[in-house]
Amino acid sequence: MRNLVADLGAIVGQGHVLVEPDVVAGYATDWTRRYVGLASCVVRPGSAAEVAAAVLACAEHGVAVVPQGGNTGLVAGSVPAAAPVAGGSGGSHPLHPPPTTRASTAGELPVILSTGRLTDLGVVDRAAGSVVAGAGVTIAALHAHAEAAGLRYGVDLASRGSATVGGTVATNAGGIHTIRYGPTRAQLAGVAAVLADGSIVDALNGVGNGPAGYDLGQLLAGSEGTLAVITAARLRLWPAEPVAAVLFTGVEGIGPGAEFYRRLRDRLPGLLAAEYLDAAGLDLVCRVGGLPRPLPSSSAGYLLAELAGPVDPGGRSPISPRFDLDQLADLDLPTDTAVATSRADQASLWAYRERLTEAIATAGVPHKIDVAIPVGELGAFRAELDDVVLAASTPSAASVIVFGHIGVGNLHVNVLGPDPADTSVDDAVARLAAAHGGSVAAEHGIGRAKVGWLAWSRSAAEISAMRAIKAALDPQGLLNPGVLVPAP
Ligand code: FAD
Ligand code: MLT
Ligand code: ZN
Repeated sequence: MRNLVADLGAIVGQGHVLVEPDVVAGYATDWTRRYVGLASCVVRPGSAAEVAAAVLACAEHGVAVVPQGGNTGLVAGSVPAAAPVAGGSGGSHPLHPPPTTRASTAGELPVILSTGRLTDLGVVDRAAGSVVAGAGVTIAALHAHAEAAGLRYGVDLASRGSATVGGTVATNAGGIHTIRYGPTRAQLAGVAAVLADGSIVDALNGVGNGPAGYDLGQLLAGSEGTLAVITAARLRLWPAEPVAAVLFTGVEGIGPGAEFYRRLRDRLPGLLAAEYLDAAGLDLVCRVGGLPRPLPSSSAGYLLAELAGPVDPGGRSPISPRFDLDQLADLDLPTDTAVATSRADQASLWAYRERLTEAIATAGVPHKIDVAIPVGELGAFRAELDDVVLAASTPSAASVIVFGHIGVGNLHVNVLGPDPADTSVDDAVARLAAAHGGSVAAEHGIGRAKVGWLAWSRSAAEISAMRAIKAALDPQGLLNPGVLVPAP
């Protein structure tokens, strides 16, 4: 390992190979603090060429590589396993069966490859409506860059200040605007990446990579660092759609919330976001975040909708009006619905939804189960959920908080109470989702945390195809072993 550290130092500069145990431990601990991995060092390359040389050096030493962006991932994919597995440094979270990997010998811990220095942002290509961004560019920085050009990037999420272009491509992140623009894979017009053998592929020019043969960008979207290290992406930008209003209203639970969403969608073509949170979530975010109650009345659940339209008539809106506040009159909204038209008031309403993840993590180490449920099944899934959690929880005093992106059925079930090392409740909720025709992963990916569940959502033939792709592109099992692809 000393040789590998020296080799990496020769590639990126000694200052960019971090070996201090406390520093490495910070990178090896996930955002929730539930998953704490072991790594030998962190390498921070400053260019695609340095990424390639670093990956090659790790391959020559037979040491696994864990790509990491902002480390906001919630499924333990961005941190190494807790313990090395004999015959393979990939290891697994101890709660799941060890994967098979031929990378490394026992005792050689993985290297975390941080993309934090890959922050180049190209000039916005107005003709193509796209921009090339380095893997380490944060989503917040990308938004600011697009906005300065009068355009918008379609993926947005509460982790925008840390989550990166590379991480969001690798997880195919969804977020709050998925109903309008689709997930990250829909924004991809090309990628540049380093493969496990150190070769560089570059399809950033934005033409030809779609129709001409396999689309590597689409293959890497959702690959969670198991097939390549993404170094940059060409991302589509959309015309700016100024927000006219954010509304926040009570609903009688998630089933009625889904029905209310359908009415909004059918009548308001400018719907940008439709988010749900239940009463337990609102109570928690108000308590932990010190926020005032948004509405005079209480309900079983709450729906937040964001609507595009002209900010002020004759103002800077580049699009024709698609929404008018008068249209809300048709919707029979409860009388105490909050409607925010100023940016400050809109941000205040968004805070109830966006600060929830942080509020939950402040209250404890959460079991986060991100599942996709067919929208028509949301009510039925929710009706069974509490009993399923109760039956699987030890201690039985678990609190359940449900929220998510209601329009696409991406639901975040959060459970506080059970020991973080106990996966019974996670397993039970994932099984319930599968039983309702849903998926065990909605938008956070599979990571290490869910690798044992993949077969509940994907067929044996699909998993076997995934293994074949992994073996073809990473025959040594070097890139993020133990993540996404289950052991045979
Ligand atoms: P990391 O956490 O560093 O890594 C995630 C995965 O991608 C890992 O498997 C890692 O190995 C891989 N990876 C990272 N960079 C690269 C690269 N350059 N090349 C190859 N593989 C790479 N997710 C949503 O989808 N929607 C949301 O609305 C949402 N909201 C969130 C809100 C909060 C407050 C938090 C904490 C998280 C949220 N997430 C959400 C989850 C998370 O932000 C996303 O999964 C995001 O895409 C992770 O980006 P990252 O840069 O932090 O990646
Ligand atoms: C969100 O939508 O806020 C996230 O995906 C994060 C979470 O699930 O906590
Ligand atoms: Zn989400």
